Amino acid sequence: MKKLVVFTGAGISAESGIRTFRGSDGLWEEYNIMDGASPEAWAKDPKLVLEFYNKRKAQVKGAQPNLAHQLVAQLEEKFEVKVITQNIDDLHERAGSTNVLHLHGLITQSRSSVDENLIYTIGFDEINLGDNCEKGTQLRPNIVWFGEEVPNMDKACELVSCADIFVIIGTSLNVHPAAGLIHHAPTNIKKYLIDPNEIKVNDIENLTFIREKATVGTPILINQHLKVLLQKDNAF
Ligand code: APR
Repeated sequence: MKKLVVFTGAGISAESGIRTFRGSDGLWEEYNIMDGASPEAWAKDPKLVLEFYNKRKAQVKGAQPNLAHQLVAQLEEKFEVKVITQNIDDLHERAGSTNVLHLHGLITQSRSSVDENLIYTIGFDEINLGDNCEKGTQLRPNIVWFGEEVPNMDKACELVSCADIFVIIGTSLNVHPAAGLIHHAPTNIKKYLIDPNEIKVNDIENLTFIREKATVGTPILINQHLKVLLQKDNAF
């Protein structure tokens, strides 16, 4: 099977009702990034940070995977699929994707604030002040904040560099190092970008831009592009 790597951002979950970060309706229009998603904010006011993520969590809990998440999961019938997501929601998993790498953490996990290896799956329970890890210190969300290392970045680069097909859905490609992943894709492989808005990508060969929302662009990707590739390989 061909290796298909799908790299997603907030846009794939937009039609599930989860707000994106940038743009006129983006979360960062309402909140200052540094008040909610930074080590500085955590040091200054952990209660505020926990409230911010408890709200995000309630939103994710109430959301359902949309057609784009579902189709990405179904691609596993024809391809060896690896999903790399910047999203902290679990909608890829709930849609049935079995191989999902979260670059910026996962809202359904907490972690120790003194040992980044102590990670706990807590589902949709809130984290509140006084909830401690086994070392007796405050739990924080298992989210990668601005200014922090992205622990899964090396793994993501490796997956992209071995891809046969690379698909990007719903990211403004503004946040590094994640945005640089596209440069790790082999030059000769087919690359697809699905987003309803203009995205600046320079010097990328073999890139097809499907300028549509995720739930419209993903069926186009499959029916007009991937099926043709598979037919060439006699795999359909
Ligand atoms: N379908 C597909 N794409 C969409 C849709 C949709 N229905 N609606 C919006 N988009 C696109 C926007 O055009 C934009 O390009 O999704 C993208 C969302 O961009 P951002 O809000 O910047 O989100 P993302 O790229 O995922 O942000 C990266 O920034 O704040 C941090 O840690 C946070 O992981 C996040 C990172």
